[in-house]
Amino acid sequence: MKTYLVTGGAGFIGSNFIHYMFEKYDNDIVIINIDSLTYAGNLENLKDIEKRDNYFFVKADICDKEAVKRVFTEHEIDRVVHFAAESHVDRSIKEPEVFVRTNVLGTAVMLNEAKAAWELPDGSYREGKKFLHVSTDEVFGSLEEDGGYFYETTPFSPHSPYSASKAGSDMLVKAYMDTYKFPANITNCSNNYGPYQFPEKLIPLIINNALSGKKLPVYGDGKNVRDWLYVRDHAKAIDMVIEKGRLFETYNVGGHNEKQNIEIVNIIIEALQEMLSDDDPRKKLVSKDLITYVEDRKGHDRRYAIAPDKIKKEIGWEPETMFKEGIKLTIKWYFEHEDWMKNVTSGDYQKYYDDMYGNR
Ligand code: NAD
Ligand code: TYD
Repeated sequence: MKTYLVTGGAGFIGSNFIHYMFEKYDNDIVIINIDSLTYAGNLENLKDIEKRDNYFFVKADICDKEAVKRVFTEHEIDRVVHFAAESHVDRSIKEPEVFVRTNVLGTAVMLNEAKAAWELPDGSYREGKKFLHVSTDEVFGSLEEDGGYFYETTPFSPHSPYSASKAGSDMLVKAYMDTYKFPANITNCSNNYGPYQFPEKLIPLIINNALSGKKLPVYGDGKNVRDWLYVRDHAKAIDMVIEKGRLFETYNVGGHNEKQNIEIVNIIIEALQEMLSDDDPRKKLVSKDLITYVEDRKGHDRRYAIAPDKIKKEIGWEPETMFKEGIKLTIKWYFEHEDWMKNVTSGDYQKYYDDMYGNR
């Protein structure tokens, strides 16, 4: 019976990972979720899980050394799966410090407390322990439009405060592996989409705006390229790297699914028009006329694209959900969870939206 300490499990990918793990392992694992519940953390994402006897929630900040230490003292942790981070590029451009605090300092605290709990007097580690650091392809910077991929060996070249702080966290994990032979893996994944994603990110923002007949803001010329992966495939990759990844290695995770932003917006509009029934009043609101080109993001990376060769060859992971299918599953989820969307867009969301898009 393995015990997992998941950080940031109330966020988008963390909550999908927890769902995936309980579906797969049921009562054969214990999960402790530590999350400070920022605007991006939502316990509603885990409603169907909270009553399980093998799930525990701890509301705490990963920068709070004592709180993190307590979790390691009270539980025999076998695996740390570290998701907790500030994750939105646009917010990082407005407010970089909080990204450095959580992403860099918070990762240092997690590494240090895991090391203190797992290290033996001779400098080796207790059997079967592993720290999985969840990171992003954005640490590698931006690719040319006409070619090239990110490999595990691609040098870091981050441009936004978000990607710079994630690169800092990756480098700390690498330093722990090199200096202390700390048992860890890093995964660098491309853009995720799927259920429970907060509507500050492109796909849920476009779905939400289109359904309410609001403008669909496309930054710059709309031709920036992202490599989209269905979130459940990412959860599966993380589980497989924990089980099969060679210690001290980094694995790139991606779907070979490159799309320009404007293509994504058009696909969503067409899927909504196809999926909404004729008597649904929202059908009349959804239209390509809503597409509005707005001022570009500062320092906007042009193209991301992952080469997932290593994870495929060494671990046997491949994406299973084609984009055509994944986007429909995602839209269907948002159709069926209107209340979730209403709840997350009440409160501070409108202020965020006005700040971010008001003058664009
Ligand atoms: P998210 O913003 O949806 O969730 C982040 C979670 O971390 C939230 O629950 C939040 O409350 C929590 N959190 C934030 N600061 C905290 C702190 N100081 N202490 C404790 N908890 C804190 O993010 P996400 O999209 O689920 O991303 C999760 C991880 O995956 C991040 O590390 C991100 O860099 C990485 N990643 C994301 C993507 C993507 O497309 N979303 C792609 C690749 C990698
Ligand atoms: P986002 O979902 O923020 O992810 P990331 O910046 O981490 O890749 O944005 C995805 C792409 O969509 C990115 O090129 C910026 C663009 N974008 C828009 O054009 N309009 C929007 O309203 C948002 C949020 C993003």
